[in-house]
Amino acid sequence: MLLKLPTETISIQEIPIHKNVKLFMKREDLIHPQISGNKYWKLFYNINHYLERNPENPFVITFGGAFSNHISAVSAVGKLSGIPTLGLIRGEELQDKWRDNPTLLFAKRNGMNLKFITREEYRNKEKLAEFLTHEFPDALIIPEGGTNQEAVEGVKMMLNNKTKDFDYLCTAVGTGGTVAGISRFCEDNQKVIGFKAVDDSSLENKIRELTLKKNFDLIDSGFGGYGKIKDENIRFINDFKESYGIPLEPVYTGKMMQKVTELIDEGYFPENSRILCFHTGGLQGIEGANLLLEKQNRKLII
Ligand SMILES: Cc1ncc(COP(=O)(O)O)c(C=O)c1O
Repeated sequence: MLLKLPTETISIQEIPIHKNVKLFMKREDLIHPQISGNKYWKLFYNINHYLERNPENPFVITFGGAFSNHISAVSAVGKLSGIPTLGLIRGEELQDKWRDNPTLLFAKRNGMNLKFITREEYRNKEKLAEFLTHEFPDALIIPEGGTNQEAVEGVKMMLNNKTKDFDYLCTAVGTGGTVAGISRFCEDNQKVIGFKAVDDSSLENKIRELTLKKNFDLIDSGFGGYGKIKDENIRFINDFKESYGIPLEPVYTGKMMQKVTELIDEGYFPENSRILCFHTGGLQGIEGANLLLEKQNRKLII
């Protein structure tokens, strides 16, 4: 079955911050509880072009970390479309502990086969992908985070007539496919800002190769590094949910929105700028984050 979800539910919601700029969020997180946000758009052509080729033994293989939103989404797509899936997961130590991890448990319940590989093997995943192509010639092998040219094409659908109305388009950055797609297909007068959740110096070149444009800036929203959650992040995410009714997760969207509001306070954006932030989903990650945080008497509101 082809991957096609109703996307009419996606709205652009104003965040009434009472500052000298206007701030909005595009709620891609509302597409689907499990295949949400940029994951849907990045997988859209990858999965559908593959299925249209009518593979004899459809099989999807991909890569990710223990709390990966991408792994979670691919497993859900596999279940929905009836395709067997294999997730190659970073960290062999998870072999005996995956049941304690809500993301991996969810993937497994969706029928995803999990194989745990060492960090060394994971670093060489391109080599592994080559090997798998020989082993499973019929399989679709999707890179980490789903980022490739087809993902970039899919992200084009996050843009429409309504998004043309903004001066700044903001998104969180992990593997770079989302910001590349927005940069490639937005209007010439729009400026794109990618908020980096990872400290990876190769990202800028990778994004440039995917977008072929120079209309984007990358800003570090690390707050201490990938996946690190500070008390100020928790306070921000919980206040945001309480004030505006929008849930954010701590790795990508929470840090992006916190950084955007800091930049607004610092006067980074010219007066009367219209700023649109894409809510890229990933809310499944909150449960796993809370399992770690609760041991320290901290908690994110879902
Ligand atoms: C919730 C969320 N936001 C943003 C991103 C970053 O997207 P990309 O990997 O395309 O840079 C990810 C990772 O896919 C994510 O899970």
